[in-house]
Amino acid sequence: MTDQKLSSRHLIGIRDLSISDIQLILDTSKQFKEVLQRPIKKVPSLRDITIANLFFENSTRTRMSFELAEKRLSADVINFSSSGSSVSKGETLLDTVQNILAMKVDMIVVRHSSVGAARFLANKVPAHIINAGDGTHEHPTQALLDSFSILETIGKIKNVKVALIGDILHSRVALSNILCLTKLGAKIKVCGPPTLIPKFIQELGVEVDFNLQSVLNWCDVANVLRIQTERMELQYFPSAREYSQFFGVAKSILDNLNHKIILMHPGPINRGVELNTDAADSEYSIILDQVENGVAVRMAVLFLLASHRVQFNQ
Ligand code: CP
Repeated sequence: MTDQKLSSRHLIGIRDLSISDIQLILDTSKQFKEVLQRPIKKVPSLRDITIANLFFENSTRTRMSFELAEKRLSADVINFSSSGSSVSKGETLLDTVQNILAMKVDMIVVRHSSVGAARFLANKVPAHIINAGDGTHEHPTQALLDSFSILETIGKIKNVKVALIGDILHSRVALSNILCLTKLGAKIKVCGPPTLIPKFIQELGVEVDFNLQSVLNWCDVANVLRIQTERMELQYFPSAREYSQFFGVAKSILDNLNHKIILMHPGPINRGVELNTDAADSEYSIILDQVENGVAVRMAVLFLLASHRVQFNQ
């Protein structure tokens, strides 16, 4: 494995990563993906490290993927979820984290509904902080695994045409993907109802196309994003049925495009809303490859951040 280092000892967002940081993570992920093909999928790299996974918001993929990545690297792992914890008694985020760090923890993986929660912790505590999703802001490891999956499938990212389709307004996956893919030289269009496309998004270097058929005919990769009803305080479209009629991706649409594209989705899927079952489970889909790659990418991130280790717990 490499002895190169990332430019930061935290992973708060793609915004903070240089192009060479991203390339180092993608190269290291490839090496860990090879490790994961072996009969014994475990290496001793983090055997002296303790990692706490703090999930204040629900998760299936990210949480299990981080835990598996940590175990494959031989780290000691503890898990926290806000439900069933003393958060319900009024304990603050900082108090919770400081109490966990008192148990000699080196790294914190945190998912929180508040934008900026990971950066707040990075400024307050000595542990390495990894953002596993902060509200509508960033989800950096999802963007890294998405880029890794595109690179693995197409063989390059520069000049690849990527369409991000759906609820761009509430999506941390959209922002992190835009930041990551533009740094790597991809071309990006966003597509969805005008109410779910942020004003001024073109300032991030992307184009807007409100027509699903035209954006699918343009792209090499369609990354379909979940409608995040849990973050919606207003009614952004009349009904799920109408949304599906105009922006839902069905296999019949993919079959009739002028070229073959790759279909992605970060999960969880609202089947029948943004993505029909026949498309989600079709030969176009690399959705489960994304999940598989998530473990290797998170191993790479944890491994590279650990090389920055300060021995504050010794
Ligand atoms: N992609 C993603 O973040 O999924 P989870 O919410 O299940 O972690």
